[in-house]
Amino acid sequence: MQYNITKAVPEKQRSACIVLGVFEGRKLTTAAKRVDESTGGNLSKVLRDGDIEGKPGQTLLLHGLSGIATERALLVGCGPQGGIADSTFRKIVASAIGALGGTGAKDAVVYLSEDVTTRNQYWAIRQIVEQSYDALYRFDQLKSEDNSTPRKLKKIALGVSKATDIAASKQAVREGVAIGNGVTLARDLGNMPGNVCTPTYLAERAKALSKSSSSFKVRVLGEADMKRLRMEALLSVARGSREKAKLIALEYKGAAKSRKPIVLVGKGVTFDSGGISIKPAAAMDEMKFDMCGAASVLGTLRAVVELKLPLNVTGIIPATENLPGGEASKPGDIVTSMSGQTVEVLNTDAEGRLILSDALTYSSRFKPDVVIDIATLTGACVVALGGQASGLFTNDETLGDELIEAGRYTSDRAWRLPLWEEYQEDLKSNFADIANVGGREAGAITAACFLSRFTKEYCWAHMDIAGTAWKTGKLKGATGRPVPLLTQYLINRATPKDATR
Ligand code: BES
Ligand code: MN
Ligand code: ZN
Repeated sequence: MQYNITKAVPEKQRSACIVLGVFEGRKLTTAAKRVDESTGGNLSKVLRDGDIEGKPGQTLLLHGLSGIATERALLVGCGPQGGIADSTFRKIVASAIGALGGTGAKDAVVYLSEDVTTRNQYWAIRQIVEQSYDALYRFDQLKSEDNSTPRKLKKIALGVSKATDIAASKQAVREGVAIGNGVTLARDLGNMPGNVCTPTYLAERAKALSKSSSSFKVRVLGEADMKRLRMEALLSVARGSREKAKLIALEYKGAAKSRKPIVLVGKGVTFDSGGISIKPAAAMDEMKFDMCGAASVLGTLRAVVELKLPLNVTGIIPATENLPGGEASKPGDIVTSMSGQTVEVLNTDAEGRLILSDALTYSSRFKPDVVIDIATLTGACVVALGGQASGLFTNDETLGDELIEAGRYTSDRAWRLPLWEEYQEDLKSNFADIANVGGREAGAITAACFLSRFTKEYCWAHMDIAGTAWKTGKLKGATGRPVPLLTQYLINRATPKDATR
């Protein structure tokens, strides 16, 4: 898809479809008003006839309007005139682009940002770009040709009338596109089945990504390297599977060598059967999504490199399957992690924290400014927050605030949960330094507590994305979250504080 900003007036736009907002109560948006005048009151008549009420997200396609240069006009309900809430605007854009994608139009010009008064044009344009990626996303690479439908829509122009908004709008397109591409990569990787998306496959995709820029350096550690580094926790999870585990380290250098990197660590369990503590059969297919943390790291790096952010960012991905093979860990086994701490594996299904513990210890080598791990870590987090917010834990208030704010800005929200000392009690083991599971209560928190034992040396945040990384049911599929949040955080880190956005 090609996106660009246009400042030509709506009635003069030459394109296959013009997208215009209408408010409830038969009110027209700024652009719709101009088109209405040029067409001799055609839109007003449609509203009077009651064909569209203007409820948020309602759409109506009109053909053969005279007096303007476009063939079609897609009217989109924007709700009552006045402030449009963030979530309403997203809904409006999603259904507009969805309807647009259903037409035969090859290109379109969209006028939906101008009447957003609650946020600036930069924000509105970025939402439109990001939402359209979302609305037009498909994963049909594994369907035979008969079952896939080619996209007709190739170009979307975004109408902006104020000359003073043009520069910010262009920047919004650039950043929206980068985030859209990052989200798409994360979704594609997440949706890929476990028999294709193995640890080796993730490593190959990371290598391919690293080739896209000379600012990248990639290193893939194999099991022999892990053994040398004493990554017993990670290796113990990999032992139940025939697929070889990989530890991927992808370094992006966009700033001076001396600048400490922001390290993103992504859980890359390409299939989680639970191991010997095997999961029930229902919905087990969804455990192919257990590498969505890894996918979000690659997606974010994809966006970072496209934006050439002046930062150093390192992605670390421990990748393995969790299967119950003959050499698999058994409940009660004790392993020594890279940190030297011994861990009693009371439940082999709590494998994410095991592989992350070694990856987090390894992260110290990069002398990080901050470390953020992203993991589909606990079912308990899904129970606590559902699909709306990712769980956020941190040992640094500033980092916590920055991530929450980035999530709010991108509508890719996170919510803080506590890491109080008292919860650490639950991880006591009679036989080792620490057990890999606590009791039934506060499962997302005790999992984060486990990780905190390995992150004492640096500023750290943990994001539990078990509820946000994919959708279940009819709309089953990876969401690409939290690529928008992470990329926004990095954009903010790269932008001087006084810049207006
Ligand atoms: N990958 C799962 C977490 C998960 C479960 C994410 C369901 C999304 C939906 C993780 O490895 C896991 O199995 N966690 C266990 C931990 C438990 C054994 C303490 C869980 O949440 O049940
Ligand atoms: Mn598990
Ligand atoms: Zn898992």
